[in-house]
Amino acid sequence: MPKSTTFAAMMTNYAAACTRKTAAIFLLAFVAMFLTGSFSQTGSSAQAQTQAQTQKPQSLAGAPLGNDSDSDLWRAVKRGDRGSVSISDKKSGVLIQSGGQIFRDIRNGPMFTYGAAAIIGVIAILSLFYMLRGRIRIDSGKSNVTVTRFNSFERFSHWLLAVSFVILGLSGLNMVYGKYLLTPLVGKSGYGDIAMAGKWLHNFVAFAFILGLVLILLLWIRHNFPNRHDIIWLLKGGGMFTRGSHPPAKKFNAGQKILFWLIIFGGASIALSGISLMFPFQLSLFADTFEIVNRLGFNLPTELTGIEEMQLSLVWHSIASIFMVCVIIAHIYIGSVGMEGAFDAMGSGEVDKNWAKEHHSVWVEELESKERAKAASKQVAAE
Ligand code: HEM
Repeated sequence: MPKSTTFAAMMTNYAAACTRKTAAIFLLAFVAMFLTGSFSQTGSSAQAQTQAQTQKPQSLAGAPLGNDSDSDLWRAVKRGDRGSVSISDKKSGVLIQSGGQIFRDIRNGPMFTYGAAAIIGVIAILSLFYMLRGRIRIDSGKSNVTVTRFNSFERFSHWLLAVSFVILGLSGLNMVYGKYLLTPLVGKSGYGDIAMAGKWLHNFVAFAFILGLVLILLLWIRHNFPNRHDIIWLLKGGGMFTRGSHPPAKKFNAGQKILFWLIIFGGASIALSGISLMFPFQLSLFADTFEIVNRLGFNLPTELTGIEEMQLSLVWHSIASIFMVCVIIAHIYIGSVGMEGAFDAMGSGEVDKNWAKEHHSVWVEELESKERAKAASKQVAAE
């Protein structure tokens, strides 16, 4: 037999043997699959039968997962009811906090729209006022004699408060509006970097703002209690709308006193709600405040979850801040372009005597009488 024939025959035999082996393996596998399949089918149909027998009429599927999966359960989940969890973060027992949707709607709806409208509105009103009234001039002209209005520590405290407020205001507004205003200019990742830097600044500069607030409270509180001049000042609109009208005022006029108390109370409220946001779930500011307010006959909720406290803090923090931004824009206007000679008070601390006489006549009289008394006592000492 030729060698090649023998090799071919061997290969044929080998192939036949392989085919038989493979066929046997496939057959075994198929039988196994069939048996396991039918067994499992028998198992599940038996289970379904038992389930059908034991099922209460209102139950839905879910029992194999070990829970009461019926419509009451999902209603409770949607309502924000708290379940029990074994991990230490008990907040995770609430699967859906439906208040979050209301909070989101307020933040992205009216707060977003009215906030922007308020800021643009204030700028528009001030621009209109500037066009109609122009810069408020020193009517009697400059005397070129100055009086000291604020010492260096007062100016330092003012600028600490002012610069920190501006940084907080801009970085805060960036969190609400920056995404829409800056992304088209700097792109998504550029905005991401700005937002990160802004958030970092916002957290740390807050402490400088609180310090500035305490300093100006201590320095100026004694000048900010109301007196009889304030009523006349308010009735005459501070002389803002009429040329040559200069209602008398002490160191601070009624307008400045209103600004002072707005900054103290508004600033303190913004600072407190900000601290509650910075240290989440540590304070119960709103539950405590509502409890006090309810003594006046209101019926506000006093049982608030940590999440609800945070949501209220954030909404309040944003609304109060936007209001303060509007107030401060008006202050910056009148302290700079709006009134001739005003900036010097916080720049060098020295103001023109005629400016002082026009805007704070009673204060100038007090300074002059103090000086006269000082000079008289010096003269007595010399004699
Ligand atoms: C950033 C620009 C600002 C400018 C140009 C500015 C300018 C001035 C000026 C000129 C005065 C003195 C007014 C006077 O002598 O009668 C003043 C006072 C004052 N500023 Fe500012 N200020 C600025 C920002 C701020 C900010 C952001 C705050 C607070 C958050 C603030 C709070 C006060 C307070 C409480 C007074 C004393 C009361 C008053 O004069 O109204 N200032 N500012």
